[in-house]
Amino acid sequence: MSVFDSLFAEAKTARETAYVPYSRFKVGAAILTNNDSVVSGCNVENAAYPEGTCAEAGAIAAMIRAGSSRIKEVVVIADAALCTPCGGCRQKLKEFADNDVKVHVANLEGLRRTFTVGELLPAGFELEEQN
Ligand code: THU
Repeated sequence: MSVFDSLFAEAKTARETAYVPYSRFKVGAAILTNNDSVVSGCNVENAAYPEGTCAEAGAIAAMIRAGSSRIKEVVVIADAALCTPCGGCRQKLKEFADNDVKVHVANLEGLRRTFTVGELLPAGFELEEQN
């Protein structure tokens, strides 16, 4: 099984567990970590809408909990033409991924398009040390 295939399968399974009573839009995300483990997340909505969290954020939390802190590859899946990560999640991914890390966007049938983190968030914010 290729890296994409295993991330796709995990993201698809994670998507099924999404808590989406408000949007009814399920998203799953799977990350290959620097330890070669696979972690995943789903979106979790809230009656106070802005408190909902994206699938990517859940997968990142699972990665940190699992003791990894670098992202090697990502798959995001939804039943949509092209469910690219939202702006906030692009910044969240950048925190833990180099610019050349691949983010595969899939629908339920398979891969739709592959981006790099740098393509998704050009000139992304990095905290500079103060002198
Ligand atoms: N959502 C994600 O979880 N990830 C994305 O990449 C895009 C959007 C969620 C947020 C919300 O629960 C639902 O999709 C509709 O916006």
